[in-house]
Amino acid sequence: MKLKLKPKILIAEETIQKRVRGMAEEIARDYEDKELCLICVLKGAIIFLSDLMRHLALPVTVDFMAVASLGPATETSGVVKITKDLDMDIESKHVLIVEDIVDSGRTLQYLLHHLSARNAASLRVCALLNRKAMRTVEVPIDYVGFEVGKEYVAGYGLDYHEKYRSFPYIFVLEQPFV
Ligand code: IMP
Ligand code: MG
Repeated sequence: MKLKLKPKILIAEETIQKRVRGMAEEIARDYEDKELCLICVLKGAIIFLSDLMRHLALPVTVDFMAVASLGPATETSGVVKITKDLDMDIESKHVLIVEDIVDSGRTLQYLLHHLSARNAASLRVCALLNRKAMRTVEVPIDYVGFEVGKEYVAGYGLDYHEKYRSFPYIFVLEQPFV
């Protein structure tokens, strides 16, 4: 693909694939004999979800949620709003939220709060990327793919102004962004 900006690859395709396979094996062990429902947070987690579930040796169910941050992304007091809720009932199910990246933690905090009222058997979190340095609220993450630094990243589902989600690797945007 022809690009105007030169991607600086942070996590190569093979590295991602190996880690995702490892995470799937760990999850399969932890949820053996349990009814697992994966909840994909749109849109960033779509590629991660599809690779992860293909490696999961479990008969999982899948549902989707979409959230939007209200106000400027840089504002730590930004409110999160649900733009698409679950279609399925998660009562008595073991639920695993699948996220692309946990940054401030606000999105995840909101999702956990929202879903905790639905009487799931368990509620845990699986995030491909974790940016611990930017955390403003404490959130539990049960499975983490990779720790990343403060630089904005895109690719493998993650976007920059809705672009680059289809890239098989994760790269750092070296140009200044707003
Ligand atoms: P949080 O609420 O601050 O934790 O933000 C989490 C959401 O912001 C993620 O689910 C992403 O959709 C988005 N996000 C945060 N950092 C990045 C990044 O570096 N690249 C792409 N999306 C990001
Ligand atoms: Mg996301």
